Amino acid sequence: MTTSAAAHAGTGVDPARLERLHAREVERFVAERPASRALHEQAAEHLLGGVPMSWMAKWPGPFPVYVDRAEGAHFTCADGIDHVDLCLGDTGAMCGHSPEPTVRRVRDQVGRGITAMLPTADGAVAAEELTRRFGVPSWQFTLSATDANRHLIRYARHVTGRRKVLVVDWCYHGTVDETFATLDDTGAVVPRRGNIGPPIPPSETTVVVPFNDVPALEAALATGDVACALLEPVMTNIGIVLPEDGYLDALRRLTRQHGTVLVLDETHTLCAGPGGCTGAWGLEPDAVVVGKTIGGGIPAGAFGMSEQLADRMRRSVELEDIDVGGIGGTLAGNALSLAAVATTLTEVLTDEAFARMTALAERWTAGVQGVLDATGAPWHVTRLGCRAEYAFSPTPPRDGAEAAAADDFALQQYLHLHALNRGLLLTPFHNMALMSPATTESDVDRHTDAFAECATELFA
Ligand SMILES: Cc1ncc(COP(=O)(O)O)c(C=O)c1O
Repeated sequence: MTTSAAAHAGTGVDPARLERLHAREVERFVAERPASRALHEQAAEHLLGGVPMSWMAKWPGPFPVYVDRAEGAHFTCADGIDHVDLCLGDTGAMCGHSPEPTVRRVRDQVGRGITAMLPTADGAVAAEELTRRFGVPSWQFTLSATDANRHLIRYARHVTGRRKVLVVDWCYHGTVDETFATLDDTGAVVPRRGNIGPPIPPSETTVVVPFNDVPALEAALATGDVACALLEPVMTNIGIVLPEDGYLDALRRLTRQHGTVLVLDETHTLCAGPGGCTGAWGLEPDAVVVGKTIGGGIPAGAFGMSEQLADRMRRSVELEDIDVGGIGGTLAGNALSLAAVATTLTEVLTDEAFARMTALAERWTAGVQGVLDATGAPWHVTRLGCRAEYAFSPTPPRDGAEAAAADDFALQQYLHLHALNRGLLLTPFHNMALMSPATTESDVDRHTDAFAECATELFA
């Protein structure tokens, strides 16, 4: 695996200074974490890259931190160091680690059967709560948001008889082949950088448009070839990119006009509130995807459909073929996952919890903004509900390409390592922080203090 070299000029950071500071932080990291290092060396024998899944190699530092125990908004590593977890499993643990109501319910369910391929009462409870939040009334459960996206793409193709999926440039929707496409400099659809073994050129399956570009959307949909538009209502996977006024309205109007199924992937944007952006802004998608945190960390994803879409599906699928049509998964909808989802939604990720989490993210954002103002760093900070993020450009990007151009892997690695050495975990993919119901104001302030120390050194 390779890493890019030094910070680019737009970040305002001197590359030589960054290199020097980075070397200092690596030294401190290695000195303070002998137990993690030993575990990693042992793991390297039989795990590819020394990690159970390849992206875990992307954490900053020469080896990953090994978790001993995670609870609420904190975890303790194998070396006994306490950390404030602002990554929260990149949303998988947005409800806090091992929330008590979920743990209690899951313990009970483990003793009463984990998977039987038969429904349990929790499915209806979870679906009713998701309906209340997102408005769409007909739900199915998967093991991941990736699967939920995959299944909706298939259903949309099936009921529309169309081939193509529309996504926005620099999106991420899980490991879904159709979504690993970007636009090149000429506007052509090409495999996304890093796309490993694409089955066919993505231009055959996928139409890509820049976010916030209504004319591009209109032109793409007017071909009449697009089965579904799959979008996050706010981009969250290339930093946060907010929709401009009128963009989501235009998206709804145009997809209706051209008979394209509108799928909103709320896996991350659930951070906007109990019903994600759909609930917060009164959006009217044909289908919604959620996942990650809804099971309190127990694997679960879900997709919900409007009555009309659900009806089209019911009428177009034969019962005899229902298990071999490309929708499913043996463990999907298992009793344990559904117990976890029903309890997490009704007892942990409550409306009150979201209000508290959002206030904490406001505090985090204000803290970061104060540091940017004080140090003159040419960066900005953006927030969506209980998620906030800073990025290396003076103003917020309008689309994914602008966000990607401002990104800087070397600088990110340094910032994350600096934070880690001060007991703070940020998501490894960009500079994102999430608040859980268990996060406290002093957790937030710990980040502000460390970020101030870091930015002051970088910009002194
Ligand atoms: C918006 C969005 N959708 C779907 C997914 C896929 O989630 P999972 O990896 O849990 O399947 C992700 C993962 O980061 C995501 O960010």
